[in-house]
Amino acid sequence: MQITRQIASNVFWVGGNDNRIERFENMFPLPHGVAYNAYIILDEKTVLLDTVDQAIREQFLENVAHVLNGRPLDYLVINHMEPDHCGNIEAIVKMYPQVTIIGNKKTFEFFNQYYTLDISKQTFVVKEGDTLSLGQHTLKFHMAPMVHWPEVMFTLEVTKGILFSADVFGSFGIHPGTLFADEVDYDRVFFDETRRYYANIVGRYGTQVKNVLSRLPLDSVKFLCPLHGPIWRKDIDYIVKKHLLWSSYEAEKQGVVLVYASMYGNTENAVFALANKLGQRGVTDMRIYDVSKTHTSYIIADLWKYSHFVIASPTYNMHLYFPIESLLKELAVLNFQNRSAVVLGNHTWSSAAIKLMTGLLGTMKDIRLIGEPLDIQSSLKAEQEGMLDELADAISHSLRV
Ligand code: FEO
Repeated sequence: MQITRQIASNVFWVGGNDNRIERFENMFPLPHGVAYNAYIILDEKTVLLDTVDQAIREQFLENVAHVLNGRPLDYLVINHMEPDHCGNIEAIVKMYPQVTIIGNKKTFEFFNQYYTLDISKQTFVVKEGDTLSLGQHTLKFHMAPMVHWPEVMFTLEVTKGILFSADVFGSFGIHPGTLFADEVDYDRVFFDETRRYYANIVGRYGTQVKNVLSRLPLDSVKFLCPLHGPIWRKDIDYIVKKHLLWSSYEAEKQGVVLVYASMYGNTENAVFALANKLGQRGVTDMRIYDVSKTHTSYIIADLWKYSHFVIASPTYNMHLYFPIESLLKELAVLNFQNRSAVVLGNHTWSSAAIKLMTGLLGTMKDIRLIGEPLDIQSSLKAEQEGMLDELADAISHSLRV
């Protein structure tokens, strides 16, 4: 059974949901699945914008055939050559052998790396600013290199103001029967998953995101059509501003994320005691995460959201507790920056955690350490409470609570 929806006159969504997939890129948990968006414009010429992951091939091909309703497919635009979107190019070419495939030079390099089908006689290479008339509709191509792959481009349908924005403005989560962001309680259903998607998938490339957004006529955009998640036709400014903030590495909110590793509960006790002291000083927006319990993608999303964080780890094998080291290295790769941090370590016979954590934080841009790192020996003692109070004072003062 086809599952499609009209977005505007002669513009259709032909993507699909994958609610069986466990992890995005085999790494990020997907408790609410993920949607792959693809679009068709019907005009004197017909065009399909992107395909979907091979996991939902059957649904997708049925959707495409339904919307085309017997018409040939003239063009396939490839905005992104990552397999969750290009996984059905070969299937489309086999169904519509006359189709002309539109991409940039890099697009086709990647196609040849992934696939063996010879499409060399049916490609159309575009570059920044090139246009293509479909009849009533005109497509304009904007290169968006390293957002988050080098071949990425956006396609702007100029007549109706529809921006096909590749992975930018995307979200984890399937379409829950609705398709547009304004049809659901977006903040409750999608917003956290949009931030988690942005921070973990695109977060490293804030400069590139800002660069492409600054080159686009966003005031004239009436529809935002990303490759994942809801489509925007109202309050576009809302989600654009969030992305501009995230890509600037500015915190959305004043608050504290406390992340810890704890082998026997002693480091955890110190973090809970610190959080309790912060609460007593009027700090109300806090999130506490055990790094062994919560997937790092959720922790990273909240680190992207909040202004301050506490990182706490025992020394382990004269090194760092492995998941803490992994989290800090991941943050460095994602270009995480511009936050205030407190470092807390624990050791029994030799201290390494504090030095290693501050060293890794030092590889990131503009991570401001608050107070002296607190190094406890095995467990926090009553006589050390004053040091914890000093840290709580410093954090609350920094938050201006
Ligand atoms: Fe949704 Fe970068 O692929």
